Amino acid sequence: MESTLTAQRYYVNGEWKESTTGNVVEIMSPYKEGVVGTVQALSQEEAAAAIQSAKQVQKEWAKVSLQEKADLLYKWADELLAMQDELAQTMMLEVGKSLKDAKSEVQRTYDYIRYTAQEALHTNGESMRGDRFPGGSSSKVGIVDRVPLGVILAISPFNYPVNLSASKLAPALISGNTVIFKPATQGALSGIKMMEAFDRAGFPAGVVNIVTGRGSVIGDFLVEHKDISMVSFTGGTKTGENLAKIAGMKPVVLELGGKDPGIVREDADLDKAVKNIISGAYSYSGQRCTAIKRVLVHDNVANDLVARLQAEVEKLAVGSPEDGNTVVPLIDSKSADGVQALIDDALEKGATLIAGNKREGNLIHPTLLDHVTEDMEVAWVEPFGPVLPVIRVGSDEEAIELANKSEYGLQASIFTRDVDKAFYIANELETGAVQINGRTERGPDHFPFLGVKGSGMGTQGIANSILSMTREKLTVLNLDK
Ligand code: NAP
Ligand code: G3P
Repeated sequence: MESTLTAQRYYVNGEWKESTTGNVVEIMSPYKEGVVGTVQALSQEEAAAAIQSAKQVQKEWAKVSLQEKADLLYKWADELLAMQDELAQTMMLEVGKSLKDAKSEVQRTYDYIRYTAQEALHTNGESMRGDRFPGGSSSKVGIVDRVPLGVILAISPFNYPVNLSASKLAPALISGNTVIFKPATQGALSGIKMMEAFDRAGFPAGVVNIVTGRGSVIGDFLVEHKDISMVSFTGGTKTGENLAKIAGMKPVVLELGGKDPGIVREDADLDKAVKNIISGAYSYSGQRCTAIKRVLVHDNVANDLVARLQAEVEKLAVGSPEDGNTVVPLIDSKSADGVQALIDDALEKGATLIAGNKREGNLIHPTLLDHVTEDMEVAWVEPFGPVLPVIRVGSDEEAIELANKSEYGLQASIFTRDVDKAFYIANELETGAVQINGRTERGPDHFPFLGVKGSGMGTQGIANSILSMTREKLTVLNLDK
């Protein structure tokens, strides 16, 4: 498999090309020694040419009938599903996701693309009459349609290289935009395979052009380019904040980091709470923006909860993604260093180690820390790794205060049997979503998905993503009275 992933060319104007710079970016596997693939490192000139190509065909693409666009998206979805094994193998290799998770990501993407086409096919504009407003005339008919913004810059993160790319490309394309696709470097090999499927589906040349290269090198140039009409970004808060600063007047949708709390009330069904917290905190080694990244538990059930969490943490499958493990090596050594530093800081400051704190290269064993206090970094920092801090609270109010004290506001979970209390707390929480008696997660993908504060700006979820990539266009008919 590896040898076929070297010198992957980039896709522009329906052609596969090598960069004239001769520069490539090496892709290291999170769990395998050595280089597993290389992608082209595009120059600014080549990136600008890709944007020009997308701009040139955008108006033509916008005129293609919605049914034809939908049929092309269905073909793309079929092509992706047809290469599910190959795509999953590539994802496992470059982002260390287990084959099972990678395959379900491809299936989720297939469903996402198809649902996006159907959503657009069943969405109509609206018409308004002037006489609804005082003094207005009924002979004034306003037709409100939605039109594409133009060329969308779609920037995706490493952790869902296929799904969080298609979740930008599909709504952009069905609504008549063309796309500059900038995959995460650790995810670019999967991104290129998505383009192979895209090419086989038969879309017009230039409708999607992929730009590979390090975001820190080519990212700002793409974001600031005058012919980029909108930016849809998923990634870290720091990168997102920088992007928002330099995007100027362009509309941007940002899906950023999180520090989702699992709030466990004294009346919670602890079996349900433990099951959801364990999968919420440790699946894909916690490398999910929606992972549960802290537990806020009522004092009088804390001992019981921690003992149950410990028992489940110790049962987690740890090791190579090739063996279907849940806790797998992290994306790179820099991430693993960051997670280890959070564990060390907490233990130095008096946290109790309940499980874990064992490291083998990029593999951090699932770690559970109790008696975590506010002076410990792990109480606030997004680890994007398999470490879960438990913070004991004396009341719902204390839990709400701690939850809202975070710079993040993506999601939160509340575990309780008291629905009134659940809604009282939910209403107080500063997050994009609240899960009652369930783990924090994105989807089902037609649900709105958003973060507030440092977790993002704008809303995703299929219908919202289409709205974010289009704008109203009003045409007024002034009929004879
Ligand atoms: P990241 O380091 O911020 O990278 C995200 C994307 O931005 C990558 O494609 C990256 O390219 C690109 N990039 C880097 N610098 C850029 C620049 N100056 N201008 C434009 N693009 C630039 O995030 P990550 O490590 O891939 O993903 C993990 C983070 O994403 C976590 O914080 C996680 O919470 C967040 N995330 C959020 C969501 C959500 O939906 N809320 C979903 C997934 C992940 P390179 O790869 O080439 O650097
Ligand atoms: O981090 C990716 C984010 O979008 C989470 O998705 O489905 O794992 O909750 P999910």
